[in-house]
Amino acid sequence: MILIDDIPQVSLGVFPTPIQKLQNISRMFGMCVYAKRDDMTGLALGGNKVRKLEFLLAEAKNQGAEVVFTTGGAQSNHAMLTAAAAKKLGMTPILILKKRGVTERRGNQLLEHLMGVDVRFMDTDDYEDIYREMDRVGQELGRPYYKIPCGGSNALGTLGYVKCIKEIRDKGIPFTHIICAEGSGGTMAGLALGAKLFMPKTKVIGMMVDTDPFEEITLSLMNEAAKILGANVKLTKNDFMLRDMCAEGYAIPSKEGNEAIRLLAEQEGIFLDPVYTGKAFAGFTAMVKEGAFQPTDRVLFIHTGGAGGLFA
Ligand SMILES: Cc1ncc(COP(=O)(O)O)c(C=O)c1O
Repeated sequence: MILIDDIPQVSLGVFPTPIQKLQNISRMFGMCVYAKRDDMTGLALGGNKVRKLEFLLAEAKNQGAEVVFTTGGAQSNHAMLTAAAAKKLGMTPILILKKRGVTERRGNQLLEHLMGVDVRFMDTDDYEDIYREMDRVGQELGRPYYKIPCGGSNALGTLGYVKCIKEIRDKGIPFTHIICAEGSGGTMAGLALGAKLFMPKTKVIGMMVDTDPFEEITLSLMNEAAKILGANVKLTKNDFMLRDMCAEGYAIPSKEGNEAIRLLAEQEGIFLDPVYTGKAFAGFTAMVKEGAFQPTDRVLFIHTGGAGGLFA
């Protein structure tokens, strides 16, 4: 197996991120609850994408890319962070976003405006249209370009969260469960593969905030990332657990998600977001109410960021 540190990476964030015990939530839930503060990854407003981008933009740099394309919805945290990271590394980001969600100069749109990013919208529901448009624009510009898929969720990006598991393991706390939001799959797949390799007693639970076939997506990303690492592991759908927290739809705030945002704000001074982390924490709360945990459990919630979305 290849050492993950031997795979090319660029430094974009501040790691390791803190792991904090949520004292008030622990008391309320009757078990030890911790948060991994990946909302404090140290670039822009923080968030999970910084870990993926350290691998993806290293490949872009090594390929000699001058322009970096990515996509997502109008308020994509991933797109905003990709733009910040590309600029920091001296490359030109071009965001071709789906004309879906809040396109006005609020939330991540405001941040992109402040960074002077080239943002374009396409009125389509199909990312394939956007990837074709990236090629068209890239060829028209005549400069070497690199395309990052929606959410940075390919095998290489997934390695960011395999590496995160090593960070968690090195903390030495025997977490029984790790919980995160699942939007395009890379974060969950990386955590589940990392746990299989480095924390095999820990269960990884993904809270789905969209309607894609995440069981297949997660397993496929895990297998592809394992292949890059040359890891000889047999992966199955039993290596992770998923729960549907999408409610009315992707990026449509839910009552439970909003309650979770208020709960963490009031009890811990931590701000979740309405699209990902609020719904993910609501899934955790629901499982607590269903009696899914023991008083001896130690649960780590991955706060994947998303602050920009709170202001959209
Ligand atoms: C704040 C936040 N949390 C969680 C996620 C989900 O991560 P992933 O796309 O890797 O499933 C995203 C990305 O879309 C995000 O922006």
